[in-house]
Amino acid sequence: MKLEEIISSYDPTEQLAEASTIPASWYLDPQVAELERQTVFSRSWQVASRLDQLQKSGQYVTCDVASEPLVVVRGNDGVLRGFFNVCRHHAAAVMTESSGEAGHMQCPYHGWTYGLDGALKSAPDLGSVSNFERKDMGLVPVEVAIWKRWIIARLDQEGARMSTVPNLDVSRFNWFERRHYFLDCNWKVFVDNYLDGGYHVPHIHQGLNRVLDYSEYQIEPGERFCLQWSPFSGGGRALYYWIYPNFMINIYPAAMDTNLVIPRGLSRTEVVFDFYFTDVSDAVRERNLASIAESEGIQNEDVAICTSVQHGLASRAYNSGRLSARREAGEHLFHRLLHADLLSGLHRIRRLPNQ
Ligand code: FES
Ligand SMILES: [Fe+2]
Repeated sequence: MKLEEIISSYDPTEQLAEASTIPASWYLDPQVAELERQTVFSRSWQVASRLDQLQKSGQYVTCDVASEPLVVVRGNDGVLRGFFNVCRHHAAAVMTESSGEAGHMQCPYHGWTYGLDGALKSAPDLGSVSNFERKDMGLVPVEVAIWKRWIIARLDQEGARMSTVPNLDVSRFNWFERRHYFLDCNWKVFVDNYLDGGYHVPHIHQGLNRVLDYSEYQIEPGERFCLQWSPFSGGGRALYYWIYPNFMINIYPAAMDTNLVIPRGLSRTEVVFDFYFTDVSDAVRERNLASIAESEGIQNEDVAICTSVQHGLASRAYNSGRLSARREAGEHLFHRLLHADLLSGLHRIRRLPNQ
């Protein structure tokens, strides 16, 4: 099917009560995945690092945004900068660890060395090379900014603004641990599952269902984010923030976790979980680890159902589904935002010559 037809097979104008989900082809067709890479992931601000990883000069973090390797580093002048982590010589990754501390950035391949400001400092053994301007051979910069307690990066400077999320307060938590999960599904299956307004909780997460008040679950879609929340049976609330397209912040009275959803293939997804607690002292370490273990149990339940959904999406028996008007306003928002991004991306690409 042509990409135009795939995109136009979703109708974003339908109200929630009439709406269908995006069609299965959006989860299965490599053309859609590539268009998402060029639009959804290249034009939005993406979480690149936690701010606590880059407190001191010389600290750096590497990451992928829209499949582009990036490095974010705090310079000797204290300024945070982002660069494509691609050596100007023959394209090797300059920084190869996921994070660390360095006085300069040296490529492991042939030893080209860049300052923390990205400038090329030395390129050994070039011989009598001509037309070579060292000052033009620095690492290519990428736009970075600070949002709450994260460093965000945006490949396309004309892309969308970062979502403003009212009343989101994450200041009382301290980072504790990071875990990575891999799922055999398209990244959107994981996001859909997150945005179903607690619909799956009584069925998939029976343990969680005992502490959440399912009937009181609230869904509050914003412009480019959605807040879902539920009272705990014992008091307090669970707040689930989704930031379009692929970042979630889950806040409980004494804990928080974030989920960064990274497409690793058409039907392969990595989700990076960062766990935070108000108290991360040794005295409560066991309690915090027990909380993570519980969260991991829930995550495993989600992994299994997402795999099942991905398999079903490829069936000839399925094209698209309906949405619960009570529960799935967040998912409806997600699909409409996606549609808008893909459509504008398609127009942009088609306007360009030779494509
Ligand atoms: S690729 Fe980096 S020095 Fe050659
Ligand atoms: Fe779940």
